[in-house]
Amino acid sequence: MYSLVQRLKSLRHGFWYGLSERIRWSRGAFQETPARQLCIADRKQAQRIAALRDRYQVQFERRMSAATSVNNYEYLDILDRGWGESGMGRPTGGVLCDIGSASFWYAATLQTFFLPDRMVGVEVEGHRLFRDGRARIDYAAGYLSALPNAQFVVADYAEYQQPADVITAWFPFLTPAAILAWRLPLTLLAPAKLFEKIKLNLKPGGVFFMVNHGVQEAFMAEGLCAAAGLRFASRRTVPGPLSKHRMLPPVLSWWRGA
Ligand SMILES: C[S@@+](CC[C@H](N)C(=O)[O-])C[C@H]1O[C@@H](n2cnc3c(N)ncnc32)[C@H](O)[C@@H]1O
Repeated sequence: MYSLVQRLKSLRHGFWYGLSERIRWSRGAFQETPARQLCIADRKQAQRIAALRDRYQVQFERRMSAATSVNNYEYLDILDRGWGESGMGRPTGGVLCDIGSASFWYAATLQTFFLPDRMVGVEVEGHRLFRDGRARIDYAAGYLSALPNAQFVVADYAEYQQPADVITAWFPFLTPAAILAWRLPLTLLAPAKLFEKIKLNLKPGGVFFMVNHGVQEAFMAEGLCAAAGLRFASRRTVPGPLSKHRMLPPVLSWWRGA
């Protein structure tokens, strides 16, 4: 069902993915140079960041670069607006599992918002090697160095079995185009299995929170959630001032297990 071009790209990505998995290169934890201060030209964005700093008593720029800090404020903004508008009670404590965490650069945001007792980021391509000679796990180790309750696990979530009270997925892959653009092979595209595993791993009374790119992708994901037996709880579109750079607004949805 894939085109020849897609299959060729997938083979190439599969080669590099397989190699990074075998080599498992690491140079140790990488700490970003903290920006300490942010210069935000856009007035609305600056105001929103100030409000978030105040409300959650955080200053991401104390530990992270300017770009990573602004990205964290964006995710915190999405959480703050979304959970506020949806009326969903914010769950705190317990075990939080994030699926497809990349380098888990937003772990500090999840910690700030959910205050979990334990937090795990599950990423299938944790050993990806970057141009600076560092691997994704090196970056993850740096981002988690101030979060003793957090862990980064390199695994395919479709095969991962650990119960959690809160499961989050920020922009999970649903289409061949998206996964190939991220330079992963098509063999890793199994969204139906992924959502079934979420249903299985979600503790009774737990909540699955998902963020998708735009309404069309959200509908696709919601169909998969429903097929996996997850129960729809709420949906919100939150085009906040910090998400201006996105072509499509983030669409948030909340799901329950049994
Ligand atoms: C679009 S990226 C989003 C990254 C991150 N959540 C964020 O918001 O920046 C999707 C991530 O999911 C990871 N991924 C894809 N399939 C996965 C799977 N089956 N298990 C775990 N991670 C997966 C990819 O490697 C990639 O890092």
